[in-house]
Amino acid sequence: MSFSILLNDYTPFLILAIAAVYLAQLCRRRLAVHLTPYEPPLLKPTIPYIGHLIGIARKQTSYLDKLNAKYPVPAFTLPIFNGKMYIINSPLLIQSALRSKNLSYDPFIQDSSEKLFGLSNETMQILRAPGTPEKLDLMSEFNREMHGSMLGEHLQKMNQVALADVAASINGIVDRLEVKSLYLWIRSVMTIATTDSLLGSHNPLKTDPTLVDSLWDYEGGVTSLLMGTPRYFAPIGYEGRAAVQAALIKYYGAKHDSEPDVACITKMRANVFRKYGITDEETAKLEIGFLHVAVSNAIPTCFWLLAFIAASPTLLTSIREELESITTIRISGSEKGETNIDHAKFLTHCPLFVSTYRETIRLISSLVIFRRVMADTTISDGKSSYLLKEGSDAAIAVGVSHMNPNNWGPNVAEFDPKRFLQPEKGEIGDDRVPKKAYFPFSGGKHLCPGMHFAFTEILGTTAALVLGFDIVGTDGNLLEVPKIGRSTMAEAVTKPEKEGLEMGARFTRRKGWEDIVWKFKAEHE
Ligand code: HEM
Ligand SMILES: *[C@@H]1O[C@H](CO)[C@@H](O)[C@H](O)[C@H]1NC(C)=O
Ligand SMILES: *[C@@H]1O[C@H](CO)[C@@H](O)[C@H](O)[C@H]1NC(C)=O
Repeated sequence: MSFSILLNDYTPFLILAIAAVYLAQLCRRRLAVHLTPYEPPLLKPTIPYIGHLIGIARKQTSYLDKLNAKYPVPAFTLPIFNGKMYIINSPLLIQSALRSKNLSYDPFIQDSSEKLFGLSNETMQILRAPGTPEKLDLMSEFNREMHGSMLGEHLQKMNQVALADVAASINGIVDRLEVKSLYLWIRSVMTIATTDSLLGSHNPLKTDPTLVDSLWDYEGGVTSLLMGTPRYFAPIGYEGRAAVQAALIKYYGAKHDSEPDVACITKMRANVFRKYGITDEETAKLEIGFLHVAVSNAIPTCFWLLAFIAASPTLLTSIREELESITTIRISGSEKGETNIDHAKFLTHCPLFVSTYRETIRLISSLVIFRRVMADTTISDGKSSYLLKEGSDAAIAVGVSHMNPNNWGPNVAEFDPKRFLQPEKGEIGDDRVPKKAYFPFSGGKHLCPGMHFAFTEILGTTAALVLGFDIVGTDGNLLEVPKIGRSTMAEAVTKPEKEGLEMGARFTRRKGWEDIVWKFKAEHE
């Protein structure tokens, strides 16, 4: 989740500012940006003072692609009014920035929480309160607890619940299934599976599946909410939010989060909020944000992965072979054959499948990560250093680094499913080792804690579908991968639009795989 505070804070001024440009010319000297020679070089906008702001507001993450194509430098400074925003493009500088303790995510989480969730002033005070020597501030406490609570046995439990749900949906397909929109079908299956794994058997989205659409209505309204758009102009987002929050208020009010089948991370989050004095009702309002991050990137990723595999018969054949090596079929008497996929073995047994997953994410991630510079800081790529001044913001352009031919070679724009296979011996010296320029899950302190869960959920769902079914378009032809756009500032990956959203699909059980029941169980479970 990355949010542009820039848009939030300045949007109301936008129209005013355009009118004020002439006036601003008069006081040019007062508005001039002061830059030391150690900071990244200045990139002046065509329209003085606000040109970059308009570019970002209109073009979102693709504005940074555009600037980088014009000025392919490791980092630059955008003047905005009399402030500045640093844009960080090169992989080594990105690493340096993500590791820096002087760059903080907290101000963005705090400001975006206020805008996204409609919280009370009391709650906002609690979220913003600094720590004391005796007691960590809420953000730090959260961060300390977050990662452990989605690892090990906690992670296993989440994987089991989500994949059991996915299996139930797939087992419900009798001979064949035709869906009008592949994306919306995957979205409904996985939204229930994910929220079940987080919220347990009292998951309100399971009881009332219209809430699945409400959650995605909210998701679609996030950019408007961040920009402070009044309800009248963005009713769908507000209504979606109200419906999901109302259901969560009942859930937390009844303390369903304390039940044994609820994910550790869900319990941990609510308990931290309570410990700091946030009420159940406000906790419920905040937690729409957690459901949002849990579904908003993983589900589109699963759609693109499935589309890439279904669209390429040779890739499909190779991936099916890999998957068969971790699948066992047990036939007993007249019962349906029980087919188990060992989801703990993707990494060790399915290198091409895993590489395809990573390559898919590389192409669909136009992530921009925002950080506030809390103290003058130097970031370095080993050769050059850049000074970042206290009080400015940094936009870490991960998506730009995913599409830069210097990092990936000349076929950077192509889908190359083998790109992330381990390099053969002798190739190690190849200096475009992909991982160095690959940050779709962020890094440092805020590395996505859901990345392991996303991995298993997405690969598990895709595995059963490509192994058990022939997947074609509703016209019977091979699927085509829809056009991949660039995302908004609030998304980590892009979603299908227009034709992509309308792309239907037909699933037919494969010959020899008709009478089977799918299961996901790891050997060690
Ligand atoms: C392909 C799927 C996913 C992608 C690409 C993704 C990406 C990201 C990124 C880039 C961030 C950090 C933003 C920043 O540093 O500014 C993040 C944070 C986060 N993600 Fe994910 N994510 C995915 C799936 C998930 C899932 C499935 C969950 C939960 C079940 C999840 C939970 C979170 C949480 C709670 C944070 C906030 C961490 C913090 O503030 O320190 N993510 N994710
Ligand atoms: C919250 O605080 C703002 C000013 O900081 C005030 O205008 C607003 O009325 C307050 N809202 C409530 C519900 O107290
Ligand atoms: C981070 O900020 C502190 C001052 O608060 C400063 O001493 C330190 O050099 C900074 N770190 C870097 C890497 O610039």
